This record gives sequence, structure tokens and C-alpha cells, in this order.
Amino acid sequence: MDPVKPVTPIKPVDPVDPVDPARELKELASWQRPLRDEFPIIRGNPELAYCDSAATSQKPQAVLDAVHRYLTTSNANAGRGSYPWANTTTALMEDARDRVRRFLGDPDPERSSVHFTSGTTEGLRTVARDWLPELVADGDEIVVPFADHQANLTPWLDARELLARQGVRIAVRELPRQRGSGDYDPAALAGVVGPRTRLVAATHVHHVYGADMNVHRIRQVVGPEVPICLDAAQSIGHLPVSVADLDVDFVVFSGHKAMALPGTGAVWARGRRGPAFRPGGWSGTPNTAGVASLTAALDWLDAAGTDRIERWTAALTSLLTDGLSRMDAYEVLGCQTSLAAGSRVQRRRSIVTFRHREIGSQDLGFILFSRGFMVRSDGHCQAGGSPGGGRDASVRVSLHIHNTPEEVQGLLTALASLQ
Ligand SMILES: Cc1ncc(COP(=O)(O)O)c(C=O)c1O
Repeated sequence: MDPVKPVTPIKPVDPVDPVDPARELKELASWQRPLRDEFPIIRGNPELAYCDSAATSQKPQAVLDAVHRYLTTSNANAGRGSYPWANTTTALMEDARDRVRRFLGDPDPERSSVHFTSGTTEGLRTVARDWLPELVADGDEIVVPFADHQANLTPWLDARELLARQGVRIAVRELPRQRGSGDYDPAALAGVVGPRTRLVAATHVHHVYGADMNVHRIRQVVGPEVPICLDAAQSIGHLPVSVADLDVDFVVFSGHKAMALPGTGAVWARGRRGPAFRPGGWSGTPNTAGVASLTAALDWLDAAGTDRIERWTAALTSLLTDGLSRMDAYEVLGCQTSLAAGSRVQRRRSIVTFRHREIGSQDLGFILFSRGFMVRSDGHCQAGGSPGGGRDASVRVSLHIHNTPEEVQGLLTALASLQ
């Protein structure tokens, strides 16, 4: 690979038009209401508010129907038999690969590949274990995030160790971030990448701070040749993700966070920069029902419109951030500004994480559940954190298309009563 020079001066943060969250929610209400009703578990539990979609998503009826249909009409193994059910299952796997490509706006589907996994963790591990060693030589460097999800750090560190045992020493450098907001610092990245940089791993949306990490600016810094591997666990299904716009080489995501069944995920590989992506070894029987659910989930999300899901959840999180910022008892982690601040870098996606200044986060989680709100309270698997979060634990509220302004208002009322 040719040496890469850091390129193009970094522009200031891309501005976006200021948006009034209340107006957004009013405008989108008639679109959202029927879609909320498509989730049986949500419809069946009107007294509960599920606010943990960043951990895993709830499933719309269309996804449940697709799984039922597959298992009751053509369940068989894939790529093995030649009778009709086996052929249908083999075709289902191929169709799902095309579905992932279309969902990501793949500009070169002839060249790309899609590999199914159990989720983002396995996907990133596969890229680090099966592809990275073919890419790097002794003395090369990779740049990875040190304070995102641990699924996007440990596979790279493990790969470094494995390579070192084979006499190939690579350096793992930190992808720099800005203070406070948690998003990356492209200007500082220019000082980290050099001629031996072979890969940048990044996260699209931070799973604790909800920050859009401005990954579209990484390509400007690293130049045209360095592969970029994107952890899209918190963006797929929440906002449009276009591999053409982002110009990344891997998109790794969890289907189960995007309305598909548990134990589903995928790696999309562009196949243009570096060696071909050929996950190693005999992979055994695939999760065919899970893959059927993924196709149905991506169909459902496209029909609902990821651009509208993005607007809806951004407006809800903005309401929540604004409400929390008016209560002295709470500290909101990450960026402090709301949607209305009109800056893309500060724009929060569907996740708001906070602490009470006196009540422990685990206790706060229990109290909120006693009032009907299912939130997550621990350390959120952040790299470098202690298991369970310890004293760093915080409460994470993560929203999706089925959440409503009334739920957010109810949550704020519950939090206000604990001041
Ligand atoms: C940003 C991010 N990356 C990776 C993961 C790991 O995903 P999974 O547990 O589906 O493998 C998560 C899960 O929370 C995440 O939020």
C-alpha cells in the first residue's frame, strides 16, 4: 500500500439547521403512532416504557411473522441439501446479503461481501482475527478508539498479541477524542496517522454519550487508501447509514439492536482496500431464522424511514436532555447541548446517560423501574470501565421509534420527584 499523507484541512463542525423538537414531534406524530402499535410487546404493556433499545431492540410484528413463516414453511440448513426447503434456505441467505447491501447503499455490490455473525462483538473480532493479519507487516500501526464499547478495543489488542507471537509487531494508537463531548477529534487524528497507518477503527454513534462521532470526517484526514472499520451498533436502524457517503470499508452491526432476533448481526466489507475479507474456518450451520428476521427487520426499517426515525428519536432525546439540564440534581454525561443548538457534532442520537448527584445509579434504575421505566444502570461495557460500572455507573435511557413524548415527560416527572 502507498504511504498515506494526511490530507485536506479540517473544516469546522458541519452546521445543521436548528430544529424545534416540539414541532418535530407534532409533525411526525401521525407517522409514529401506527408504527408503535406494530410492536406486540409494547402494545401489550401500556404501563411500561422500554428505554433500553441500545442494549437490544423490540421486534415489530412483521419480523415475528417472517420468522414464523420461515420456520413453518421451509426450515432447513443452508448451502447443504438440494431439496426445495434447503434451496429456499440457501436463497434466503443470499437474498439477505443483498438486503444488507441495499440497506447500506452499497455502490459496488459486485465487489462487496456480507458475513453474518451473532452481533457486533463477533463481527469486529472476525475482522481483527481473520483480516487484519493479512493486512499488516512488522512495524505497522492501527488507530482504534480507547473509550468506546469494549467490543471495539479488545479484538484489536488481542490481534496485536497474536501477531506479536508470530514476530509481527504492530502499534495500537488511540483515536483521539475531544474533551467533554466524547466525539472524535479529526484535527488531532491528523497528528496520529502516518505512512505506517494501516487501519482506523471507529464508532458511528457512542453507546454511552449518544454522540454522532463525525466519522464522515475521518476519511478526509486519513486519505484515500487507509481502510476504516465502523462499529455501527448504535446507528443501524436509528439513522440512514450510507457506505458511499461515509467511505468506510467495514460496517459491523448487531441485527438484534435493529429489530431482528437475538444472536444476529453482520459484517459488510467493501472489498476494495486491503486483502479480501474471507472469514476463516468452517463456520457450521448459520442462524437461518435469525437471518430471515434480519431481512424482515431491514425491510421494516426502510419502509418506516430511517430518516424519520432519526428525527423522532433526536427530538425525544432533546426533550429529555433539556428537561434534565434544568434539574440541578442530575449530571448529563457527554455533550450538554440539545438538538436545538443546531450543531451536528453536538447532536445526540437516541441515547441520554446521566447520574443523580446523591442517589447511586443502580438504585436510581430500581426506582425508575418501580415507576414503569426500563432503563440501564451500570458501566455500559465501556472500554476501560470497571465491570458493572462501580462508582462510575450511570443511568442510560435509549429510545427508539416506539417511545413517545408522553413517556419522556413521565420519565422527567419521575426524575424531578427525586431531586
Ligand atoms: C457501540 C457498540 N459496539 C458493540 C456492541 C456489542 O454488540 P453485541 O453485544 O451485539 O455484540 C454494542 C452493544 O451494546 C455497542 O453499543
